[in-house]
Amino acid sequence: MNKIPVIIDCDPGVDDTLALMLAHQMEELDIKAITTVAGNAPIAYTFRNGRNVMDYIGAQVPVYKGAEKPLLRTLQTAAHIHGEDGMGGVVLPASKQSVESEAAWDAIHRIAAEEKGELTLIAVGPMTNIAIALSKYEDMKDLIKRIVIMGGAAIGGNVTPCAEFNIYEDPEAAEMMFTSGIPVYMCGLDVTMEAYMSRAEIEKLMALGSKEAKLFHDVEQKALAFYDEMGRPGVALHDPTAVLFAAYPELFQGEWCGVHVETKGKITSGKTVTDLYSDKQFDTHNTFIVTKVDREAFVQKIFDLMANY
Ligand code: RIB
Ligand code: CA
Repeated sequence: MNKIPVIIDCDPGVDDTLALMLAHQMEELDIKAITTVAGNAPIAYTFRNGRNVMDYIGAQVPVYKGAEKPLLRTLQTAAHIHGEDGMGGVVLPASKQSVESEAAWDAIHRIAAEEKGELTLIAVGPMTNIAIALSKYEDMKDLIKRIVIMGGAAIGGNVTPCAEFNIYEDPEAAEMMFTSGIPVYMCGLDVTMEAYMSRAEIEKLMALGSKEAKLFHDVEQKALAFYDEMGRPGVALHDPTAVLFAAYPELFQGEWCGVHVETKGKITSGKTVTDLYSDKQFDTHNTFIVTKVDREAFVQKIFDLMANY
């Protein structure tokens, strides 16, 4: 099998942690690097968490530190879901790996060039590192095969009624990404809110018995309580949706369309405006919006992957 070379850009983050654990078990993916960005928690925590999680699961993958704030705006974290330090109250042993000094955006460019245009970028945090790489390197847009994101929503929002966190945090960066010309596969709230696991399913997964299965369970408890309060049937696995889409697109459905990001709105800032449900009159249609998931198959795949720990 030809493995897909990927970089996962993330802001761990409890669901980012699940995404990293799942991606590590996917034989379809060849993880070249993890790059971290401020978002769910400050960069000091997201970088530390990325290093600690990869070390904890035994992944020999370099982790790079990225942007400590959005391009133009002030950082807004999400402690109500992720806790102050981004790990939902879970404490992992400190990574013993040497600390990478190369900046995330430089690593993205270097590895994309090494992979000769075959690299998939999986972005599950604010798009700040991607925007900096696009801005710093003229050839960046020609070196990335596709970008698979967790972010946005054709309908709805989770930070405001019309904006999802990763886009809301850095809308200017997101607009740079959507208009770069690189094909974007957008796993937004339209699909991630249906890609959930119930409390009972997560308890059943923990019974797999590995330390990773226990970490999967433990980091999600704060988020589960939040979704319980919202009366939802389970916790949305936002970031795992993006990594599973990258490796198993057959579990999903979607459509090509155009997307632009509102950066000037007062109450609409961060909205991913799409012509998916209108007259398709946007200038380009290089975004595939993922709209549906086979949830049973999605959950089964998660069990299958986690059973390998
Ligand atoms: O809106 C959900 C997204 O915001 C996820 O990536 C989560 O980790 C947070 O970053
Ligand atoms: Ca994230």
